[in-house]
Amino acid sequence: MTHLPVRRLLVDLDAPVQRHWCGGDPFLTAWFNALSMSFPVGEQFFIDSVRQGLKALPADRQERFANEVQGFIGQEATHRRIHGLFNARIAAHGLENTWEPRAKARLALMTNADARHGLAITAANEHFTALFAEWMLTHQQVLDGAEPRLKSLWLWHSAEEAEHKSTAFDLYQALGGSHEWRVRWMRRVTLIFLTDALRQTIHNLRRDGTLWRLSTWRSGWRHLMARGGLFRESWVAWRAYFRRDFHPSQQQSTASEDWLRDNANQYQRVGAG
Ligand SMILES: [Fe+2]
Ligand SMILES: [Fe+2]
Repeated sequence: MTHLPVRRLLVDLDAPVQRHWCGGDPFLTAWFNALSMSFPVGEQFFIDSVRQGLKALPADRQERFANEVQGFIGQEATHRRIHGLFNARIAAHGLENTWEPRAKARLALMTNADARHGLAITAANEHFTALFAEWMLTHQQVLDGAEPRLKSLWLWHSAEEAEHKSTAFDLYQALGGSHEWRVRWMRRVTLIFLTDALRQTIHNLRRDGTLWRLSTWRSGWRHLMARGGLFRESWVAWRAYFRRDFHPSQQQSTASEDWLRDNANQYQRVGAG
């Protein structure tokens, strides 16, 4: 069992956010904004899936997971609340969230499905989030030009994603979820996630009037595809998910713990945590 403390991030998200808040880079700003737009609906689905998964376990096996699930829910609920505030700030830039309604419609189809489907979808998304988190924490210079409060927001979220990346996966395994369905959902989630993320990024750039600048595409290439870029760096770790003996804890690093230790003044632990 993993202990997952809930932390209240001590940042003010009432103040306006600059239009190109990520170091004046329209691409990076649009990309992060797109991801943030997906979090409130996505993280609610993860919470519901994990809660439902825990209930589906026989009573005598629930105890082992109960604390971890509570921590997972506390962390994701905090993320969605904070990103909701952030999303309200960027909506003032004239952006439109088209990802959320698409995701809501798709996830509604899962309402009465076996708990293992929701967990497999959550575990796949959590693998994605963990890859992204690791990249963020090991490439913090990407956020160097951002306001400190926004840098903290993204790194705090990344650190906690790394902490709880095994929860949905372990519940899925405990419920006897198969390898076949796990990788099938990963293929679907990959396609859906990448399509939605790129679609929303392009939509943000179009509304921002910066879609057709050469510098925008250069930044996109540099930060996603080039050496050191997110996709290039994460490819091998993404593929590992398809191995039969894969477990998220095999991809451990100290980046999350390091950030949490070095930035303890940025947050407050909630409750006994
Ligand atoms: Fe999260
Ligand atoms: Fe998560």
